Amino acid sequence: MTGPYRIAPARDPVAPADGGAIALTVDGETVTGRAGQTIAGVLLAAGRVSWRTSPRSGRPRGVFCGIGVCFDCLVVVNGLRDVRACQRRATDGDVITRQDDADEPGGHAAAPHDGGGPGSSAAGPASGEQFGAGGAR
Ligand code: FES
Repeated sequence: MTGPYRIAPARDPVAPADGGAIALTVDGETVTGRAGQTIAGVLLAAGRVSWRTSPRSGRPRGVFCGIGVCFDCLVVVNGLRDVRACQRRATDGDVITRQDDADEPGGHAAAPHDGGGPGSSAAGPASGEQFGAGGAR
């Protein structure tokens, strides 16, 4: 055994095999990676830490959670929108484009509003009508 590994990397049955170099087109630019990497992994390794902006504030977005929960890493892959870059394995020849007009996480449209919350003028139930006629469900 070598180094701090309990299983030597060469004998690790679940160690990812290196499938070789791949090339993606990212916003018209060629970016190289290794087979087996996620799209986010390829982008981060290429030094790109953000690849879209939030629809309301225009702030940069890239990987936040890295586990498929936050949807901050959305990209368009081969014309398919709403792909989480942290969950999609990169494939040689993939064409990646920005998705700056992505909806907010949870499916809310990227329309401007006043922030919601108590006292807000944002659309919502009138005071005392939180659960409609049938009461709480
Ligand atoms: S970084 Fe959170 S879903 Fe991809």
